[in-house]
Amino acid sequence: MNVLGFETSCDETAASVVKDGRIVLSNIVVSSLKEHRRYGGVIPEIASRRQMEFIHPVAVKALQEAGLTLGRIDALAVTNRPGLIGSLLVGISFARSLSFASNKPLVDVDHIKAHMYACFLASPQPTLPAVGLVVSGGHTSLYFIKNFKDFRILGETLDDAAGEAFDKVARILNLGYPGGPAIDRMAQKVKKTTLRFTCADLPGTLNFSFSGIKTAVLYHRQRYKEGKDYPPEEVAYAFQESVVAVLAAKSLEACRKLKTKTLLVGGGVAANSALRRHLQEAAREYGIEVYFPPPALCMDNAAMIAGLGFHYFSS
Ligand code: KG4
Ligand code: ZN
Repeated sequence: MNVLGFETSCDETAASVVKDGRIVLSNIVVSSLKEHRRYGGVIPEIASRRQMEFIHPVAVKALQEAGLTLGRIDALAVTNRPGLIGSLLVGISFARSLSFASNKPLVDVDHIKAHMYACFLASPQPTLPAVGLVVSGGHTSLYFIKNFKDFRILGETLDDAAGEAFDKVARILNLGYPGGPAIDRMAQKVKKTTLRFTCADLPGTLNFSFSGIKTAVLYHRQRYKEGKDYPPEEVAYAFQESVVAVLAAKSLEACRKLKTKTLLVGGGVAANSALRRHLQEAAREYGIEVYFPPPALCMDNAAMIAGLGFHYFSS
């Protein structure tokens, strides 16, 4: 079964064809990211205007790259939540019109669940049930995934998302937007430091909090003059270490509580090299299998939407 998926929840306009929920035949992503850089974050009006222009050519290209005509598509899938409303509306309106005009069924897909599903678009394939960690620019949550239709929330951030904290700390360090990849690269220049930042632990819960550590980095930078402070590489490293440690600790605790040995990680921050390394090492120690999507499918894309959408059509 070939599913054509659409994703327009933030600054990307994406379309993809996925066969049987597993094989990515095409994955087209166009972003208006560059236009948001000077503002330090996504401007919804700019994002949705660009999506109005991009959605049709991106859909055509997804079909071309898959080597299929619309007639060979069996069903459609679209992100319906969460996201910027103007952006979501572009994808949803396009997908609904296409569904109506072509008489093909359409399903709505939750973007957060799809981020975890991206782990199924690589090999080896995970098995369910599993614990899922979503770490994106807007969300940081832990789920128990019983099957593709049954996701139960275990914990979530009480304030900033992990990616948001990366972006804000990068802004404090003048590293530009988006900040996650920039901090990741900077931190790789450092092996260790005496500098420490602490993430709130929230003991006894599987919730997270990242606004405190972001403020700690800000105050730290304000207290010390450039040159007499720790170099920015060490600040980036110390911040990242602390965030990664709390993400790993809570994910492993969730696996222990739910008695599952499978952990799926998705969302933009799942591309973070320290998080991947740390979780892989910790998982080995505790006998847990940890799965990450390929880096390109960690970021927003429509393959994860088409992939999860497939399971809503099959019984
Ligand atoms: O999942 P995503 O593409 O969009 C949302 O649904 O939010 O995630 C974007 C977020 C941004 O905050 C970005 O800074 C972060 O993912 N990110 C990273 C890395 N690559 C992207 N954070 C840390 N390390 C990275 N390598
Ligand atoms: Zn996302």
